[in-house]
Amino acid sequence: MDDVLVMRGVTRDYPVGGAFSRKKTLRALRGIDLSVGRGRTLGLVGESGCGKSTLAKVLLGIEEATSGTVLVDGRKIESYDRVERARLIQPVFQDPYSSLNPRMTVEAIIASPLEVRGEGSRASRRARVRELAGEVGLPQHLVSAYPSQLSGGQRQRVAIARALIGEPKILICDEPTSALDVSVQSQILNLLHRLKQELNLTMILISHNLAVVHHLADEVAVMYLGQIVERGDSEAIFERAHHPYTSALLKAVLPPRPGSRLPELGLEAEFPSPLAPPPGCPFHPRCPNADGTTCREVDPPQSGTDHLYRCHHPDHVAPATQAAALTD
Ligand SMILES: Nc1ncnc2c1ncn2[C@@H]1O[C@H](COP(=O)(O)OP(=O)(O)OP(=O)(O)O)[C@@H](O)[C@H]1O
Ligand SMILES: [Mg+2]
Repeated sequence: MDDVLVMRGVTRDYPVGGAFSRKKTLRALRGIDLSVGRGRTLGLVGESGCGKSTLAKVLLGIEEATSGTVLVDGRKIESYDRVERARLIQPVFQDPYSSLNPRMTVEAIIASPLEVRGEGSRASRRARVRELAGEVGLPQHLVSAYPSQLSGGQRQRVAIARALIGEPKILICDEPTSALDVSVQSQILNLLHRLKQELNLTMILISHNLAVVHHLADEVAVMYLGQIVERGDSEAIFERAHHPYTSALLKAVLPPRPGSRLPELGLEAEFPSPLAPPPGCPFHPRCPNADGTTCREVDPPQSGTDHLYRCHHPDHVAPATQAAALTD
C-alpha cells in the first residue's frame, strides 16, 4: 500500500525536573511503529498522558523525534522546510478558542496560509475563502466577523477551513471536538467525514474516546504509556479487541457520547507515571487478566499480522459485545 505517513521506532524524550529536583527523562513515545495509507483515516485513542499529542507534534514537525524515523509522503520529515511541510500536512487542534487570533477577521484567518506563501491575488484569496466557508458550513456573513462573535462549532469550522485552504494531503486532528458542546460534536465529525471523502484526505483523528473515532476511522491504534498496544482495522477492533486495555476503553464509551472525557475505566490502579513505567507489561498493574510471572516480568512483543497487539494473554480478553451496543 501507498503509505503517506510512516513512523519507525520513534521515541520522544522530555527532560523534566530542574533546579531543585534531580533531572529525569520522561519517555513520551516508546518505539512507535505506525503507517497510514493514502486516503485512510487512523483513529488514535488512549487516556490523557499516553502520548497522543506528542505523536501528532512529531508528525507535524513541531517536535523532533529523539530517535527513529518519520517519513511523510516518502521523505524524512526533517528534509522538509516549514513551508513545504505546511503545504502537505495541517493540524486541527482541540481548542478553537485559543487557536484563532482574536484580532483577525475570519477571512484573514482562513486566508493566512496562502498569504504567508504569497499565493494568489487578494481577490482570488477572497473568493477561495468564501467558497471554503460554504464547504465547511460557515454562513457567508460570518466571513467578516471576529472569532469572539462565533460559537465554538463555528470557530472549529474556521480552523478546518484554514487547514484546508492550502489543499494539504494530510490532516491531523487532535481532539477536534472535545472542547465543543455535545450537540455540535457530531456536526463537526460529520463535516470531517464528508471532507475526507471529497478531498481524499489522509487523516489522523485523535481522541480519548473510541466512540468518536468509530464512524470515521478505517483503522484504530490504541496507545498506552507511549506505546501502541493494539492496532487494526476499525471493524476488527470493535468486534474483537485483543488487548484488555482496548476492551476497557470499549466498555467506557457506553453510552456513546462523542467527545466526552473518558469515564471511569473500571480498572484497578491509576494510570502509572510515565517517569517510572512498570516493569514487564506496562499494563499489568491495572490488568484483570495479569498473571504473576510473565506479565510482571516480560514486556510483551508485538504479535499478530494485520491485527497487531501487545499482550501475553489475548485469548482472555472478553469479546467486545460492546461493539453492538455502540451502534445502537
Ligand atoms: N513539553 C513537555 N515537557 C515535558 N513533558 C511533556 C511535554 N509534553 C508532554 N509531556 C509529557 O509527555 C506525556 C505525553 O503527553 P501528551 O500530551 O502527548 O499526552 P496526550 O495523550 O496527548 O494527553 P491528553 O489526552 O491529556 O491530551 C505526558 O506524561 C506529558 O506530561
Ligand atoms: Mg493531547
